[in-house]
Amino acid sequence: MSSSTTARSDELIFFVNGRKIIEKNADPERMLLSYLRKRLHLTGTKYGCGTGGCGACTVMISTYEPFSKKIQHCSANACLIPICCLYGAAVTTVEGIGSVKSRIHPVQERIAKCHGSQCGFCTPGMVMSIYALLRNHPEPTMEQISEALAGNLCRCTGYRPIIDACKTFCKDLDCCKIRENENCCLDLKENLLLSEKGKEICTKLFATDEFQPWDSTQELIFPPKLLLMAKEQRKRTLVFYGERTTWISPVSLKELLELKAKYPKAPLVVGNTSVGPEIKCKGVFHPVIISPIRVLELNFLNFTSNGLTLGAACSLSLVKDILTSTVSEIPEEKTKVFRALLQQLKTLGGQQIRNIASLGGNIIKQHTTSDLNPILAVSNSLLNLASLAGGTRQISLNEHFSSGFGKAILKPEEILVSLSIPYSKTGEFVAAFRQAQRRENALSIVNAGMRLILDPGTDIIMDFGIFYGNVASTTVCAKKSCQALIGRCWNEQMLEEACKLLLEEVSIPGSAPGGKVEYKRTLIVSFFFKFYLEVLQGLKLMEDEEYPHRYCDTIEKRKSIPDVFHNKIPQSSQIYQAVDPEQLSQDPVGRPLMHLAGIKHATGEAIYCDDIRAVEEELFLAIVTSSRPHAKIISIDLSDALKLPGVIDVITVQDIPGTNEFCCINEPESVFANHKVICVGQIICAVVADTDVHAKRAAVKVKITYEALEPVILTIEEAIKNNSFYDPERKLEQGNVDEAFETVDQILEGEIHIGGQEHFYMETQSVLVVPKGEDKEMDVYVSSQHPTFTQELVASVLNVPSSRIMCHVKRVGGGFGGKVTKPAILAAVTAVAANKTGRVVRCILDRGDDMLITGGRHPFLGKYRVGFMNDGRIMALDVRYYSNGGCTADESIVIMETALLRMDNAYMIPNLRCWGKVCKTNLPSNTAFRGFGFPQSALVTESWITDVAIKTGLSPEKIREINMYKKGNQTHYKQDLDPNNLVKCWNECMEKSSYYIRKTAVDKFNKQNYWKKKGIAIIPLKYSIGFEAMFLNQAAALVHIYMDGSVLVTHGGVELGQGIHTKIMQVASRELKIPTSFIHICETSTVTVPNTRPTAASIGTDINGMAVKNACQTLLKRLQPIMDKNPEGTWKDWVTGAFRQSISLSATGFFRGYDTNMNWDKGEGRPFEYFVYGAACSEVEIDCLTGDHKNIRTDIIMDVGCSLNPAVDIGQIEGAFVQGLGLYTMEELKYSPEGVLYTRGPDQYKIPAVCDIPEQFSVSLLSSSQNPNAIYSSKAVGEPALFLGCSVFFAIKDAVAAARQERGITGTFTFHSPSTAERIRMACVDQFTKMIPWDEPESYVPWAVPVDQSLLSQQIPQEQERFQYAMDPQTDLKRVLSAATPPNTLIIFPEGQERSSLKQGAPVCQRDASLLCF
Ligand SMILES: Cc1cc2nc3c(=O)[nH]c(=O)nc-3n(C[C@H](O)[C@H](O)[C@H](O)COP(=O)(O)OP(=O)(O)OC[C@H]3O[C@@H](n4cnc5c(N)ncnc54)[C@H](O)[C@@H]3O)c2cc1C
Ligand code: FES
Ligand code: FES
Repeated sequence: MSSSTTARSDELIFFVNGRKIIEKNADPERMLLSYLRKRLHLTGTKYGCGTGGCGACTVMISTYEPFSKKIQHCSANACLIPICCLYGAAVTTVEGIGSVKSRIHPVQERIAKCHGSQCGFCTPGMVMSIYALLRNHPEPTMEQISEALAGNLCRCTGYRPIIDACKTFCKDLDCCKIRENENCCLDLKENLLLSEKGKEICTKLFATDEFQPWDSTQELIFPPKLLLMAKEQRKRTLVFYGERTTWISPVSLKELLELKAKYPKAPLVVGNTSVGPEIKCKGVFHPVIISPIRVLELNFLNFTSNGLTLGAACSLSLVKDILTSTVSEIPEEKTKVFRALLQQLKTLGGQQIRNIASLGGNIIKQHTTSDLNPILAVSNSLLNLASLAGGTRQISLNEHFSSGFGKAILKPEEILVSLSIPYSKTGEFVAAFRQAQRRENALSIVNAGMRLILDPGTDIIMDFGIFYGNVASTTVCAKKSCQALIGRCWNEQMLEEACKLLLEEVSIPGSAPGGKVEYKRTLIVSFFFKFYLEVLQGLKLMEDEEYPHRYCDTIEKRKSIPDVFHNKIPQSSQIYQAVDPEQLSQDPVGRPLMHLAGIKHATGEAIYCDDIRAVEEELFLAIVTSSRPHAKIISIDLSDALKLPGVIDVITVQDIPGTNEFCCINEPESVFANHKVICVGQIICAVVADTDVHAKRAAVKVKITYEALEPVILTIEEAIKNNSFYDPERKLEQGNVDEAFETVDQILEGEIHIGGQEHFYMETQSVLVVPKGEDKEMDVYVSSQHPTFTQELVASVLNVPSSRIMCHVKRVGGGFGGKVTKPAILAAVTAVAANKTGRVVRCILDRGDDMLITGGRHPFLGKYRVGFMNDGRIMALDVRYYSNGGCTADESIVIMETALLRMDNAYMIPNLRCWGKVCKTNLPSNTAFRGFGFPQSALVTESWITDVAIKTGLSPEKIREINMYKKGNQTHYKQDLDPNNLVKCWNECMEKSSYYIRKTAVDKFNKQNYWKKKGIAIIPLKYSIGFEAMFLNQAAALVHIYMDGSVLVTHGGVELGQGIHTKIMQVASRELKIPTSFIHICETSTVTVPNTRPTAASIGTDINGMAVKNACQTLLKRLQPIMDKNPEGTWKDWVTGAFRQSISLSATGFFRGYDTNMNWDKGEGRPFEYFVYGAACSEVEIDCLTGDHKNIRTDIIMDVGCSLNPAVDIGQIEGAFVQGLGLYTMEELKYSPEGVLYTRGPDQYKIPAVCDIPEQFSVSLLSSSQNPNAIYSSKAVGEPALFLGCSVFFAIKDAVAAARQERGITGTFTFHSPSTAERIRMACVDQFTKMIPWDEPESYVPWAVPVDQSLLSQQIPQEQERFQYAMDPQTDLKRVLSAATPPNTLIIFPEGQERSSLKQGAPVCQRDASLLCF
């Protein structure tokens, strides 16, 4: 059925922002997001991913609920909502709640004034999540805030200021208790100025008294017309016919069953959170969709004597609310299943997903990944099914999943009407488990539901059930294992046998999709062990009542069952130095001004590239990319693509009038692949069509045939083997390394892999090219950090002078280095299309394509050899760095150079040699990323420092202090530096974090807890600023003064969210001595400022600020005589006077750049202008059984000189730190063995969310810091703090080391970055990691290749080997000891074992014996 049928669509009636919409041609394939943006031109709602994972598209949906007769408001992801399901609903977007033109809403005001926006791309989504929260809870609790924001990602801010904005609506503010004296953070915030060591410091970045009050009664009401419609109109089936799909929305169960019988293949779409992503990402097509949301029989709840029955279309949020109130009302023993479900629901998806996703959809569709199914199955919940032919029937999920693999729950024509969940019984133990890549809004890696009934008064198992999710293609029942255990006592023998049985029954093949196989196997038994402990704990509680006294002991030994980590809304403090009291009040420099576009970000009125309104006949471009990593292109068949509706043309390399080749630095690259491809994701051609939908549909129809080429190189190791590198190799050396190695006390060798990182800027790559129709001129609107490079590349592909190409960048929705070179390539492709068609062409990359095509941070391998003295002095270092550059050179060589120049971090190593090689591989080309190589090379440094600490027995902080730069030292490239502020930051961080007190507390905690450990680490930072070539540091500006006194400032820097325009305005205001309200900054354009350098390397404000200062000073000099003549005059008088005297009111400004240089042949120079210093201390807690971790506290001290704007600077520090935390602890890119990137969206690639922020988070700017080298004594701030994220990595490593030590494994150990839950768990070696089967590496094809890491399975078995001796109580010790026992083998004996049988000197850990041996 489609529009080709003669039937007419019903009218779709809904409201948007109070305006009635009647859509006569509602297309079922159209999502609300595209409808809002393209049809209604409401571009405040943003596209970030299209799959419900980022929250950028959040809107509020209000409906009248016939069941409760109430109006409900909920946040939802517009990208997943088909417009057809909006009949009778009211949609509120960010434009609907307030605007600059009318009146801004308190939420918009507070998020802006609390500095909660940087690039602003996530801000409308954040605003709408908070707004929806307030509509339901006008005075929200911290927990509600945390829930409301869990589904919104922000890549810039680090969330702290957004949370601060939310907190202003809260009643119950918690104290952070950071300061261990009588002052809490709240007291601190009340005091604007405090005296600290004689300096006036500030702790407030915004003034709450400026906020308009929030009055919940003044909000937009639910449209009365809709209310009337809902109450009075007779409900009837609605049908909407689209171009390809028909949507049918029945109102009764009978009708629904008839439809399902007629269209058995049609999905029942409720929330579309499962069907929607499938259509989008997997290309699934449904000609008919049935929507049961208006069927009352699927939307009800009913309590019976046995339990609770819920309609299948109930949203997960509703289910959660019902369960929450139920567990508080009825006895605990009856609600154990409900509690287990609630535990899963709290972290299932984000709020927006739970608000629309249905219970039925989760059960039916998510049969593999559902977090609910294991619990529903184990609790014997019943599905109430119905079909037209078969009537009704009931099935138990338990029986269904127990009866074998792969069977569909439903017959094709059947539907799920409701679900009955039973009450739990007395003495029943029920528990749920899940472990995900991120605690919230992430599918679990493995989940489980477990239920146990013991024979009353005994510990004999009567009934037992375990179900696992995500270990196979459906929820898996460990039926045999559980049956075998019935009749057994709940004791350690049972535990051992149960683990063996479970691992045998729930076997995961080595090549299982999703990878992490060994980890998943470990989770199977770790979860069971947790359940075992929980039951013991429960038995202990019952002991006095009915069970014999036998559990106290066991529990004591196994104390510290790790609880599920709950999210706490972070408490924070920010401390900075107040401006000099003598400073003029109108001078804004040094004050925490709000981001210039903050309010517009919050109202959705800030315009990004794709918000520019489409013009008539505009075309959309979709990229066609290579599906092979290395191959010859044999043919490209465009015929099928060209036949599709709306397709105008396919652009290929033949359409380029100029050159296809270009150079980023000096290695040639090409815009389109020509004859051969060198990575999956390389651009081959592009389809242009009348709409984005048509272009994308046609792009997948382009048929390309390939002939495979050898070799295919994906990993650093493969590149080394194939000698595949980009030239030149770089090396730096000081002292006499070889000689020094001869004289040291100890030498250690090791290596560390650091994984790559996706930029995940919230605004995907975007470009709009407008041919101007004469002289080959083109306007290029692009989201780029480097407009000049875009201009040059477009000019070169079109073979026109650069003067014909005008590049414009209004703002960029996050760049982080990913929009320096890559946008130019897309702009070139789009410009070729615009040139060929003569029409405006727009190209906005999908999130998936963006991640696939554009590369990211370079994975690194660092191999080191360190020579040191027993007192901790490091005397010799030889370190080799390899980076994975991908298939083209891009900026990889310069990144490696910077990595080498910055690898020393804060340490003076007298004899040092470092080498750097960039590997040429068949991965998409990697590129610049915040920190430019430093976060990788310095992590290697901190890693071997930690190893030296272990080897010397000294603490890591001692080793750091001993080797830290001292006065008079030079860097390894012979540049002078003054480490005074480095030491100050370090000492202040030590003090502010109460490091030693907390370290003692951590040790104490670790002694008391076996299965959970804490770790703490403090890391110093030295970050060098400037490009090594002077000309790269130049900048220019153009300042106009108009006759009304208003001033237009333009400069070469791009606003990426880092607040450059805000700071530049502060500079112009100070120089011209006028209020900021007189000044406007419009855009960055190659028309006004030519030959700009990229806005990168943190120096945007430094250099453009100097250029603007220069221009302003020129203007002021011209105005001065007039001002002197009329000192009482106003600014406008002086400007008018100047005009009348024919004095130019326009001036350019220029900054030549820093006097930097570097001679790579000699390995010497002054490549940097100055250094930024800092330090961070982080504390974490890990769950040794699952690998989960919690960021407890971070204290950061940064030296940013005299901050130009403390709010912006602290925002940069926090944002960078959180991005670093992502890099080092959670973000993982996965590639298939064929080089295909799997992780292409927020569903697979997890960046930090609100739940990842340290519970206590404090940032202080070092006071009294001066920097004569940069504008107004400030320092660059954008990149440095990213590295401080590694303090969390090392805190985790510290906790892991504590766990290993307690298990008797001492010494250094390899711990790669990121420290994911998988790595943490597998490094906490114990009986469970030992128990699991390990596959021979050659025996299977792994799901993913270790592009940036050593195979876990290569690392762990050695440790398993060592551990095995400790594990087996039956081991013949004499045989073990006489066999080839590896050195340092730890022998752990079962309790009671004769010590005399030990080999002399063998280490023993008897305390653990009973823990380790069953
Ligand atoms: C960003 C994101 C995060 C997520 N995180 C999690 C998570 O952490 N844990 C987890 O368990 N899940 C998670 N999910 C999955 C989510 O819970 C499911 O997609 C959701 O519950 C499906 O419900 P729906 O109404 O949206 O289904 P729809 O997409 O509307 O439909 C799902 C399918 O189920 C069938 N179906 C639905 N209802 C019935 C019925 N009554 N009778 C017969 N068939 C029916 C339909 O035919 C359809 O094929 C996540 C999803 C997203 C998008
Ligand atoms: S765009 Fe909708 S959630 Fe990302
Ligand atoms: S401000 Fe949140 S993504 Fe940029």
